[in-house]
This record gives sequence, structure tokens and C-alpha cells, in this order.
Amino acid sequence: MSALLQARNIARTYKLGSGASLRAVDGVSLELARGETLAVVGESGCGKSTLGRLLMGFDRPDRGEILFDGQDMAKRSSREQRVLRRQIQMVFQDSASAFNPRWTIGSALAEPFRIHKRPWSRQSLEALLDRVGLSGAFVDRYPGALSGGQRQRLNIARAIALSPRLIVADEPVSALDVSVQAQIVNLLRQLQADLDLACLFISHDLAVVRQISDRIAVMYLGAIVEEGETLSLLASPSHPYTRALVDAVPQPGKPLGAPLQGDVPSPLFPPNGCRFHTRCPVAQRRCSTERPELEARQGHRRVACHFPLM
Ligand SMILES: Nc1ncnc2c1ncn2[C@@H]1O[C@H](COP(=O)(O)OP(=O)(O)O)[C@@H](O)[C@H]1O
Ligand SMILES: [Mg+2]
Repeated sequence: MSALLQARNIARTYKLGSGASLRAVDGVSLELARGETLAVVGESGCGKSTLGRLLMGFDRPDRGEILFDGQDMAKRSSREQRVLRRQIQMVFQDSASAFNPRWTIGSALAEPFRIHKRPWSRQSLEALLDRVGLSGAFVDRYPGALSGGQRQRLNIARAIALSPRLIVADEPVSALDVSVQAQIVNLLRQLQADLDLACLFISHDLAVVRQISDRIAVMYLGAIVEEGETLSLLASPSHPYTRALVDAVPQPGKPLGAPLQGDVPSPLFPPNGCRFHTRCPVAQRRCSTERPELEARQGHRRVACHFPLM
């Protein structure tokens, strides 16, 4: 069976006012199967949101291609693109400004139906609210009455309104309290199972990602440095950067690993060779001159490193 979503070597460079060009995404290839959850993790600024926007079709790659259901997104007619926009939906980080405070929750929820000219009724809106664990009575209330967690449930209700096949969730629980995070993660998992929804889950938080993803792709300076099945990747990271991220997650009875030295280099001046070599504890001479390719290794793992840890 072909993948639901496939990105082939996509890149996105931003031209800055100064004339400089910034490679936010630099040659990313990934695949997502039906109903599967792939987490994209990495430090702030590594290109996660840019990648999400490219996969959503909000933005176009300046190189490479993106296939949805085996078809190139860029080559579709405008009618096909409209259909596509129903099939891929996005959930953003919770924010109080996500909803117009003067619209009832019912009108906010009806918006995707109006935009895509699909029929809806009060009952269908109530059923959607029920799906995400909110009372149908919210239809007539205003977003100001919602807590952060409830607002994120409403965001999710809006995203699933038109029965999409893929959700791109960009830091969907990062603004929420830890106890609420778990509830939202559970809701997403439940909906995925019920609706056969695939999910690209963008997060900087490995503890959250562990709860929801089947696979993890680790990004550093615009590129994937390691990808693998969630439990295996977290238990035995192969890339020194993944190792450092895993070691930075507090675990009972385990001392924290040594923190990574230095800051992420500016994406305006990415290091030659391996992008990570300036901070890598096991880097050797070769790493500063020769860029490692992302190569398949045993156990469904892909790693871009000259000296992988396993
Ligand atoms: N519209 C834009 N114009 C210029 N630079 C951008 C733009 N959007 C993002 N960037 C830059 O691209 C890089 C990746 O950003 P982003 O995709 O938001 O990363 P992340 O989501 O991982 O924090 C960052 O260096 C950011 O400053
Ligand atoms: Mg981001």
C-alpha cells in the first residue's frame, strides 16, 4: 500500500530583507502511512513549523515534491486542491486568540462547513462537541467561557469537522498544563483510532511525543538526523543529538545527562560537514568536512551520522 503522505527531498529557503538566504528546511524526506502518527521533534528554530506548513500546502517547497495519496500536491488542479484542503487539517498551539470572541462556539465550529460549502446542522455541531468531550450546550456560548484545554478540544473539533485523513498538529499541547496535556493527547489518540486519522505531531517535548507517536523524526538545523520507531529510538538513540535530547528528559532514579554544549548555530551560517559537529561529543575530523547522508540501518532506523552510537 502506498503512503498517505510522502515528502521527497523538500527544501524551503527564506530570502531575508538583508539579502541573505535562510534554509529553514533543507532536504527532508519522510513518509506517513494511513492512520499513523509521526512525531517531528527538535529544538526551537530547527524548521518544524516550516515543514508542517509545507506539508499542509500553506507554503510551497522551492525544491522537492510532496505526494498525498501518491499524487503530487503542486500538480493538482484548483478543484483537486480544494478537496485536498479538506483532507489535511491543522491544529496549532492553544491560544486565546484562536477564536473570534464575538462568535458563538457554534458559529466557530460551523466555519469549516461554510468555507467548504458542506451541509451542517445544530445536531452535527453538538455531535462534534461530544466527540471531543465537550457538552453540546457550548454551541450557544462564547469562547471566553472555555479553559485552555477546552479551547484546544474545540480546535480539534474544528479540525475533524470535515473528516480529514491527516492532521498536522504543531505544538498542540505545549501551552497547556501537564495534566491537561495528557487529556488532549488521549483525545487525539482516541480520535485517530476511531477515524483512521494520520497525524504529524510537531513537538519539542519527548515526554509528550512518547505518549502519542508510532515513529519519531528528529530534526536539527532543517534536516532529519534520525528517524525510527518511538520506543526503540527513545531506548537506544543512534545519533548523538538524539542521545542528548533523550538524556535531557528527567527520569526517576536516573541522573540527567550532561547538557549539550553551546547554542544551535544560526541557520544563516550552518556548519559545513555534519550540521551537528560543532556540538557533538563524539565528532571527529571527518564530521567537519563531509556531510553524512540519512541512511537506513537495522530495525527501521534512519540515521545521518558518520559515527552512530549503535
Ligand atoms: N517567514 C519567515 N521568514 C524568515 N525566516 C523564517 C520564517 N519562518 C521561519 N523562519 C526561520 O526559519 C527557521 C525555522 O523556523 P521554524 O520552522 O518556525 O522552526 P521551529 O518550528 O522548529 O521552531 C528559523 O530560523 C526561523 O527564524
Ligand atoms: Mg514552531
